[in-house]
Amino acid sequence: MEYENDDTWKRSSSPKQKTGCHPVPRQSTTAAVIVLGLAVLSCLLGYCVLSETLPYESKTLRLVIIVFRHGARTPISSYKSDPFKNYQWPDGLGSLTNVGKLQLYELGKKYRSYYANFIPEEYYEKDVFVRSSDRSRCMMSAYTFLAGLYPPSERQMWHPEIPWQPIPVHSLPTQIDNIVAATKPCKVWKAMYNELLAEQNSNTKFTELFDNLSKYTNQSMRSVLDVDFLYSTLLAQQDAGLKLPEWTRNVFPNKMRYPFMLSLALLSYNQTLQRFHTGPILSEIRQHLKDNVDNLNVDRSLYLYSAHDVNLVSLWRAMGFKELVEPEYGASIAIELHQEVEQDTYFIRMFYRNNTKVEVPMELKLPFCDDPCTYTRFQEYINTLLPDDWEKECQNT
Ligand SMILES: *[C@@H]1O[C@H](CO)[C@@H](O)[C@H](O)[C@H]1NC(C)=O
Ligand SMILES: *[C@@H]1O[C@H](CO)[C@@H](O)[C@H](O)[C@H]1NC(C)=O
Ligand SMILES: *[C@@H]1O[C@H](CO)[C@@H](O)[C@H](O)[C@H]1NC(C)=O
Ligand SMILES: *[C@@H]1O[C@H](CO)[C@@H](O)[C@H](O)[C@H]1NC(C)=O
Repeated sequence: MEYENDDTWKRSSSPKQKTGCHPVPRQSTTAAVIVLGLAVLSCLLGYCVLSETLPYESKTLRLVIIVFRHGARTPISSYKSDPFKNYQWPDGLGSLTNVGKLQLYELGKKYRSYYANFIPEEYYEKDVFVRSSDRSRCMMSAYTFLAGLYPPSERQMWHPEIPWQPIPVHSLPTQIDNIVAATKPCKVWKAMYNELLAEQNSNTKFTELFDNLSKYTNQSMRSVLDVDFLYSTLLAQQDAGLKLPEWTRNVFPNKMRYPFMLSLALLSYNQTLQRFHTGPILSEIRQHLKDNVDNLNVDRSLYLYSAHDVNLVSLWRAMGFKELVEPEYGASIAIELHQEVEQDTYFIRMFYRNNTKVEVPMELKLPFCDDPCTYTRFQEYINTLLPDDWEKECQNT
């Protein structure tokens, strides 16, 4: 876990304009031709893999919402017997590494080619809206993702040596962000979470692991949350090429993985916790879908959210998936709105990429929905997870 909530989350978005025009996603003909060419070529060479990924079938696609985790980072915390306690991380603790920057850049490029027929080649402000957790590593991940997604066209080059263009990323301060990072304090949620955490921690199946870890780290390790922090620290040290102490072989990553994943899941363990932790972002997602279906905001076809592992897990769980997961750096969930123009019906498709290397995102079969999942059913389900008044239900007073 890495990390954070606002009553300004009901963003008064840009003035809604009713438009009579039928929205047709702008197509990028050049990209389509190139991509098609590549697909044909790769088939000739003996693999048709590419043709399955590119270009993405976009006849029915209307809107894409992507939530991703930031890239590789340096450790946030240390432990008593940590041989690297005083290690000088060049960019400080909890910061995005160069590997992390590259991961999100690559992910942006992957989504660029995947949606070549849907996302216009040129960045245009009205098409896309980006929100990030206020944490530096998430903001920076959003920027490198955008560098991969929207390399400047010739016209957009503003400096001969910098093939990059500035694209705005919006965020709310940690203390008021209940949308992306979900860090705004919520009293009722916190009490429930603490109760659940205590219950899980007293599970005797963890006793032996807690004992061992306490001994190894020379500090009290009696909670899956402690395991969570330790796991993330060891992972970050290992990624940085540091040689982990001998004892880690017995427990890391295998024996620690389940309590680690459980710790991430506890924040949104059941539907009550999901209302608080995921409700606000679901409320935004619901509005984005509705605006498009109602033709109120037809230009905007892409929303991006740059977030943390726990936020991906929360969205995953809120969608009814019970399996515990470990979203790697740059893991992402994409929600697509489609329209069958002839029947004038809408449906939702959802995809998961475990990490930035995945070529073809895995389609998720939504447990609360038939296949295809109609827009109406999707909204109906989301509604059950939306608090009428978040602040009030939180009893923040
Ligand atoms: C464990 O902690 C104690 C007390 O803080 C200290 O005296 C001891 O040297 C530590 N042992 C290791 C292996 O770090
Ligand atoms: C979720 O867990 C909390 C804490 O144990 C509990 O108070 C709440 O009733 C649970 N909600 C559901 C729907 O089970
Ligand atoms: C704890 O340590 C003991 C002794 O080294 C070992 O036999 C046992 O398998 C370990 N258990 C766990 C869950 O790490
Ligand atoms: C990706 O995630 C899915 C769902 O959790 C899992 O079934 C699959 O094994 C994962 N793949 C990898 C390579 O981790």
